[in-house]
Amino acid sequence: MTGIRLAAPAPGWSIDADVVIVGSGVAGLTCALRCTAAGLRTVVVTKARLDDGSTRWAQGGIAAALGDGDTPEQHLDDTLVAGAGLCDETAVRTLVTEGPDAVRRLIATGAHFDTDPDSGAIQLTREGGHHRRRIAHAGGDATGAEISRALVDAVRAQAVEFIENALVLDLLRDAQGHTAGVTLHVMGEGQHDGVGAVNAPAVVLATGGMGQVFAATTNPAVSTGDGVALALRAGAEVSDLEFVQFHPTVLFLGAGAEGQQPLVSEAVRGEGAHLVDADGVRFMLGQHELAELAPRDIVAKAIMRRMQEQGAAHMYLDGRHFGADMWENRFPTILAACRSHGIDPVTEPIPVAPAAHYASGGIRTDLHGRTTVPGLYACGEVACTGVHGANRLASNSLLEGLVFAERIAADLVEAAGRTPGVPTEPATVLPLIAPDARHGIQQTMSQGAGVLRSAQSLGDAADALEAVHLGARHDAAGSGKSAEPGVESWETTNLLCVSRVLVAAAQEREETRGCHWREDHADRDDAQWQRHLVVRLTDDHRLVVCRTDTAAFEPVQETLPKEQHQ
Ligand code: SIN
Repeated sequence: MTGIRLAAPAPGWSIDADVVIVGSGVAGLTCALRCTAAGLRTVVVTKARLDDGSTRWAQGGIAAALGDGDTPEQHLDDTLVAGAGLCDETAVRTLVTEGPDAVRRLIATGAHFDTDPDSGAIQLTREGGHHRRRIAHAGGDATGAEISRALVDAVRAQAVEFIENALVLDLLRDAQGHTAGVTLHVMGEGQHDGVGAVNAPAVVLATGGMGQVFAATTNPAVSTGDGVALALRAGAEVSDLEFVQFHPTVLFLGAGAEGQQPLVSEAVRGEGAHLVDADGVRFMLGQHELAELAPRDIVAKAIMRRMQEQGAAHMYLDGRHFGADMWENRFPTILAACRSHGIDPVTEPIPVAPAAHYASGGIRTDLHGRTTVPGLYACGEVACTGVHGANRLASNSLLEGLVFAERIAADLVEAAGRTPGVPTEPATVLPLIAPDARHGIQQTMSQGAGVLRSAQSLGDAADALEAVHLGARHDAAGSGKSAEPGVESWETTNLLCVSRVLVAAAQEREETRGCHWREDHADRDDAQWQRHLVVRLTDDHRLVVCRTDTAAFEPVQETLPKEQHQ
């Protein structure tokens, strides 16, 4: 049996299903609803509560060509520009053409978007990189919360089976290497408790992002890269992990602030707020034709540069001219978050700085969400469909989750009836990393692989991560002991795994493109780098980094093997 697994007790219970979906954001729940409606026995496994994923935190909205005069072609153009030469055009075309109907089906499922009181038409706003008003929103700035509410209600109404408070550990496969289910650990009392297994011939990873690898992020605490780490251990390919999007306007809570930070949606700029420096000067004017609404990477870089020039820890977002009514009605969530930290956007500019926000890369999939492991699918932020390229266009992520979840469900329904093989756990066991390494990993990643990177900073980060990794291996080899199995050590092991891959890819990419910014390679280098970095983990614990010229889902040409012992 190939693959690697986390050290964990043997499963003490098991259930059977046709498909197990890991994660309960827009991607996971949409897929679950479609599979259940088609008669597949579907089990959703989620790390916290059903409504606790990243989707709930999305503010700005969902992008789709729904407005008068807008077309999928224009949405495609904006997405390709933001993606800085690395989008898979076929994947983007799929997204933008299937997107509008997918949003209409979401509305039919019960999601209420903000509408114009007179015409009843869906209200649309703008965000960075969009040349048109194209972003549908709900509850002003609570779009994700409304989508999550509607999908959770529908899941309950359809009696979809779900297991909450469950950390998925590893993929099970049969003797032919086909997916046969997952192992998981359920926290708390209930029917299924401790380590168990869901046996199923298809697994959909919809586990969200990995923002928690950094010290400060907009992502919730559950976003520890578990899906990408699981897929790597199962032998799947991941791609484009170096492209981490740093959101330009995150509420600045102090230089040492850690963990999940409050987002100040790009929609605030879309409605006319200005970025100003410590002297009150609008520094985005003249930098890009869209000024504050330039693609996100350009705004984040401009903020960082101005911060460096002024020796400032943050910049400001000025929306005082909105007035109290607009703040209260259009941006109630952001207003409340700012006020809870003692800042009143009605009367003062909001201090903001970039923080880790979104993984543009992830597990490599085709247009049906299939990964390189048979029967294993990935959807949403955990996946790399080729839609985002080097930099995701704002508010394309909820849409990607919707569109590709439906495509995965269609593929699963078509493939239904496959007799599940006998599930087997991989023989090779990975030593666990002690939870007390977590803080150091996050600090290392923010210092070495943050918004601005260099060979030096990435090399330092790689060395520090390697030391943690080798320490765990030596402990396991010497005393036969590694950290005790448990949620915190499993999560820390996942964080270290994805951090090492991210840094290895960022070291390799010696250029500046999209949200990968190298101060020692300041320019985009299409001759060398109009290509993707694909990483996989071999059974003998090596990370293999390869380059491929195409985003299309083809076997990787191993033009640049680089190996590190995992
Ligand atoms: C925002 O509201 O600014 C975030 C939207 C996104 O990340 O797509």
